[in-house]
Amino acid sequence: MRERGSIAAVGDRTRRIGSGLAALLLVLSCLCTVAAMVGLTAGGPQAAETAEAGPADALRAAYRRPEAVPFPTDNPYDRVKAELGRDLFFDPRLSGNNGLSCASCHVPELGFEDGQPIGFGASGQPVGRHVPTLWNLAWGKRFFWDGRAASLEEQALGPIQNPIEMDQDLDALVRELMADPGYRARFAQAFPESPAIAPDTIAAALATYERTLVSPPAPFDRWIAGEEDAIDDAAKRGFALFNGKANCAACHSGWAFTDHAFHDIGLPDEDRGRGAVLGLALLDHAFKTPTLREIGRRAPYMHDGSLPDLAAVIEHYETGIVERPSLSPDLKPIDLTPSERADLLAFLATLDSPNPTPPTIAPAVAAAPPDAPGAPKDLAEVTQRDKSFDRDSVALTEGGLLVVHNDDVRRHNLRIFHPKLDFNSGIQRPGESVAIRFPDAGTYRVFCGIHPTMELAVTVE
Ligand code: HEC
Ligand code: HEC
Repeated sequence: MRERGSIAAVGDRTRRIGSGLAALLLVLSCLCTVAAMVGLTAGGPQAAETAEAGPADALRAAYRRPEAVPFPTDNPYDRVKAELGRDLFFDPRLSGNNGLSCASCHVPELGFEDGQPIGFGASGQPVGRHVPTLWNLAWGKRFFWDGRAASLEEQALGPIQNPIEMDQDLDALVRELMADPGYRARFAQAFPESPAIAPDTIAAALATYERTLVSPPAPFDRWIAGEEDAIDDAAKRGFALFNGKANCAACHSGWAFTDHAFHDIGLPDEDRGRGAVLGLALLDHAFKTPTLREIGRRAPYMHDGSLPDLAAVIEHYETGIVERPSLSPDLKPIDLTPSERADLLAFLATLDSPNPTPPTIAPAVAAAPPDAPGAPKDLAEVTQRDKSFDRDSVALTEGGLLVVHNDDVRRHNLRIFHPKLDFNSGIQRPGESVAIRFPDAGTYRVFCGIHPTMELAVTVE
């Protein structure tokens, strides 16, 4: 099923920047390229000038908050359902001994984390990793630090059943909730087609509530919106460093400060992370880039909770990186002066909102439909650059061939999960092309296991 050749050299700088501009219209997360366009990557005096003049328009656009929250078509937004999900989230009856709710570990005032290096479950055992934030997961593509869950619906039942987390039997939970007339009535109202309480409606309500957890506006947003005095000069210099010399925006890109991708940033622990899930050694120690919103409330940091404060995080990127083959190609050596470190910290502080309470429940927006794929052909060629495909969709005839050229500076991993076609390219290095034949009619989704915002719809007729 898999053919591979080594075609096409890595694109030159100009071509990459050109395609990044197109991608910017589709996704908000191409900041590294935008930074290059506005001349911030060089850092130094150029960056400082830009900071004084206010962010360039392209940069502002890349960091502007979205106006609405995306909800999936198979679990659309509904206020009754979101409020039911909220009450389940705070209800200790979800755990086996009725002692622990989701909010015991995901504490709203602590950025939906728990303030400890490693979380503790229902009977006091440590859970394997640091409790991650739940802010801005509506835009997420894969869940858990290692991306092993494909949706929030799929994720939600995990901690309930996990013996070292909430240790609850799903049948027992359904019985317990059914015994409560209030829950019975509200499930019936939220899910009129399947009014009996069941694991999948519990998961759907929790996921709907989680999608409403959009980090509240912070001083940084007021500045992006044009209020020059919303942040001070140190923070403005820090923002220029973030996009330039300090290289942070290579991964923490866009308004939520994440590319939703998986990277090994050289932390010294043994956890294989994404590498174990994908079965690819080059992805060992890779974890999902977390949002940096509300970051000041979320110490300690990283999947292992090993870094106590933000100064320690910066120190890690400067001097703590363990050299190994799996290190992310987006990681660059950096070297900052003491005043630059202070500026970077001042900028990160502008990402904390004044009030950490959960926001009001937001309205839904339909996801943009993919571009029309055009008439079906027997061969379609697609190029990868800047963590994007150069189009959203292609149409093939039955038996047609899709060739995907990696013209990016990064490695990719093409995947298809479909009853008729289970495909895994393994590591696709820069310059390599992957060919996939589609023998059967149907609609397929091709995505990258490392950068899951890269999605291509393939219609085979
Ligand atoms: C005992 C503490 C604990 C409890 C209780 C708990 N979680 Fe978590 N949660 C964690 C930890 C630890 C992780 C990270 C695990 C990993 O990535 O391997 C996590 C991960 C998550 C994620 C993935 C976040 C991301 O960035 O991908 C979501 C969503 C989540 N939890 C929601 C919930 C919900 C909903 C509940 C209640 C049904 C819940 N959690 C209960 C500790 C907890
Ligand atoms: C190569 C991609 C990459 C670059 C470059 C990068 N980060 Fe990260 N960052 C990540 C990933 C991935 C994680 C999670 C790593 C883990 O837990 O193993 C992370 C974690 C963090 C965290 C902890 C977040 C949390 O929820 O615990 C902070 C803070 C942070 N980075 C800030 C920065 C700053 C500041 C810079 C620039 C000096 C930077 N990052 C550069 C990818 C990157």
